[in-house]
Amino acid sequence: MAKTLYIRTHGCQMNAYDSARMADVLAPLGYRPVDAPEGADMVILNTCHIREKASEKVFSELGRLKGLKRARERAGGIMVLAVAGCVAQAEGEEILARAPYVDIVLGPQSYHRLPELVARACRGAGRVLETEFPAESKFDFLPEAAAPQGVSAFLTVQEGCDKFCTFCVVPYTRGAEFSRPAAQILAEARRMIDLGAREITLLGQNVNAYRGAAPEDGRWGLGTLIRALARLPGLLRVRYTTSHPRDVDDELIAAHAEIEMLMPMLHLPVQSGSDRILAAMNRRHTTAGYLRTIERLRRARPELAFSSDFIVGYPGETERDFEATLALVREVGFAQAFSFKYSPRPGTPAATVEEQVPEPVKAERLQRLQALLDSQQRDFNSNQVDRTLPVLFEKPGRHPGQLVGRSPYLQPVHAMAPETEIGRMVPVLIERAEPNSLAGVRHERAAA
Ligand code: 5AD
Ligand code: SF4
Repeated sequence: MAKTLYIRTHGCQMNAYDSARMADVLAPLGYRPVDAPEGADMVILNTCHIREKASEKVFSELGRLKGLKRARERAGGIMVLAVAGCVAQAEGEEILARAPYVDIVLGPQSYHRLPELVARACRGAGRVLETEFPAESKFDFLPEAAAPQGVSAFLTVQEGCDKFCTFCVVPYTRGAEFSRPAAQILAEARRMIDLGAREITLLGQNVNAYRGAAPEDGRWGLGTLIRALARLPGLLRVRYTTSHPRDVDDELIAAHAEIEMLMPMLHLPVQSGSDRILAAMNRRHTTAGYLRTIERLRRARPELAFSSDFIVGYPGETERDFEATLALVREVGFAQAFSFKYSPRPGTPAATVEEQVPEPVKAERLQRLQALLDSQQRDFNSNQVDRTLPVLFEKPGRHPGQLVGRSPYLQPVHAMAPETEIGRMVPVLIERAEPNSLAGVRHERAAA
């Protein structure tokens, strides 16, 4: 019998991929995805724990869902309510205690067990907490991606992190580093291409630490995996995220030099420009090391652009440390970046350090850093004006007759084009740069 499933996804692209796989694993049970929780037979909250207030947001969202669940019950139906993702992993017990109407709490490594857990919940066999790290890999049990993700698809190749940066919850919520076997990834990529994907973004918390079993013997690093993907017929573009500066190796740099399909935009979080703070963060790289890596990558592929993540107000950060971050930003020149105020995460080493930076200082530093990063992003975008960029069209734009796609640098690009060009790579002459997007005309028309 057809049932409806609503999944609400917070956080990173890996959560988006996981939500799609949860929908896939529930499809054989008759669950069909819908766009709103009202009246759904099952609701999953896929949560994120990376920064502040994550769990409070989950509890207030659960409060609203409780009303919908009770309404469903009054109408004689049931609504299975599940909390998944990193808040579930980190605070599972508390969720069960504080939200007695939640049926299932499950961590990111247990999604293949969903059908069994849902069957249990439907039988009324009690509530479940599934946050142990299972011995088996969920990837061996999840069905292959079934639902089309569109022109641009995400594919998780690596999960977990062994780095233990002192501010970060990921090693605790996602567990130890694990790489999927290359053959499994290539099979999933082929299937995504059959379903219409023309661009694949390889995902991992530490994606460039990828070392998966090779199809024959031995192991492949990320560079080799990208080379194999680039040979798949039908695929036009490859990207990957998120990388750690320490794990950029020769093989990956060579891939940037030699593989045209590997897009020239690299997200390489640095967090801080002060060596003292980087050491306190246990980042295992220095500013000089980071700059050297950027320089080698630029030599391999001169048009390569960079984006990054920054944390301001890490415990003990002085004005001088912060100025070193600004200096690093000026030296590199980023096309795009994310910056955050440090927020103490329960269970991480930095949370208990005494010298926390006062909130107003964090706010003031964040504002200064963002002003600099924004101006670099504006410059980068306006430098594209009058250039012709290959744009992979993804979907209709806001205005009639318009399509939107992405430039090689991930900027959304709007242009007038027929819908038959969705999924195709088309040269677009850029005419205008907005803060977060570009607009242009298809080159054939520009030339006419
Ligand atoms: N406080 C602020 N920012 C954080 N990040 C991770 N943990 C924290 C924290 N405790 C940021 C980092 C990371 C990005 C995904 O989130 O910059 O790269
Ligand atoms: Fe977190 Fe990234 Fe550091 Fe791993 S490398 S602990 S995911 S910030």
